[in-house]
Amino acid sequence: MSGVSFSKVGVVGLGTMGAGIAEVLARGELAVVGIEVNSEALERGRGHLERSTGRAVKRGRLTEEGQRAILDRIALSTDFADLADCDLVIEAVPERLDLKRGVFAQLDRVCRPDAVLATNTSSLSVTEIAVSTNRPTKIVGVHFFNPAPVMKLVEVIRTVLTEPEAVTRVADLAAALGKTPVTIGDRAGFVANRLLFGYLGQAVTMLESGHATRDDIDTAMRTGGGLPMGPFTLMDLIGLDTCLEVLEAIHAETRDRRHAPSPLLRELVAAGLLGRKTGRGFYAYDGSEPEAPA
Ligand code: 3HC
Repeated sequence: MSGVSFSKVGVVGLGTMGAGIAEVLARGELAVVGIEVNSEALERGRGHLERSTGRAVKRGRLTEEGQRAILDRIALSTDFADLADCDLVIEAVPERLDLKRGVFAQLDRVCRPDAVLATNTSSLSVTEIAVSTNRPTKIVGVHFFNPAPVMKLVEVIRTVLTEPEAVTRVADLAAALGKTPVTIGDRAGFVANRLLFGYLGQAVTMLESGHATRDDIDTAMRTGGGLPMGPFTLMDLIGLDTCLEVLEAIHAETRDRRHAPSPLLRELVAAGLLGRKTGRGFYAYDGSEPEAPA
């Protein structure tokens, strides 16, 4: 692929985002190594990859051979040592700073000294992750949007320590993969979430205060705002735990009350109602009420 200075890319964490990113890379004809913590998680990751590419086959957007070629380009493993010859590794593990710092310390040990290490964090400081390694100049943020195979934006985040070349190489890769990169500094929420979550948080506050119903708020924004999804449908897609983490991070940095997570969001997360991934969030996806609006 022209303009790409990476040939083998690792992805650590094959949840919704990691699997989506691995698929995007493999569609771009790169050799991919997908790492999970144990064999059950690896099988779940394989399931994400097969379902997502299978959906494209069903829709006639991909041939079965094309699907097989994509899946064959992704080597799955539970051993970090298999990342030793990758020239870029993208981390997409759950949003816990201690966990991510541990992953980066491990990557720092196994990866080539010139390899670029990237985090897909949506709410943590890239700088705090970078300083857990001995190569902070080679650490960038690379923030994909959900669903990664569909959404065009990729935010490339540079810290005050990142060398310009690492930023340019990652932004060029994103562009070569058909994405639209924007490059920004390490501030909570980066650009898109900083703006988006003011709106999403406000939607929850409006619902909680009885300003309007869930369905009316979603309908208003879908049909009046020209958006593919209303705010509650979108939060259920993102995951309410992720929404809470992003709001908390932006609120901690800005102290702007528009980003203070509402009690209702906290309550849903505490109850384990995290959206589509658990079968219930603002809407139910487990058949207990009519399906959420698409
Ligand atoms: N994985 C792979 N492909 C998917 C997919 C998934 N999970 N969901 C949908 N697609 C593909 C479909 O296969 C289809 O592709 P095709 O046209 O080539 O066949 C295309 O997307 C459209 O899908 P559908 O017709 O099934 O559904 P919609 O037209 O309703 O689109 C949607 C679904 C793309 C999810 C659309 O509703 C949408 O854009 N929603 C908004 C998503 C959004 O705003 N995401 C950003 C969230 S913020 C974030 O991620 C940041 C984080 O840090 C919190």
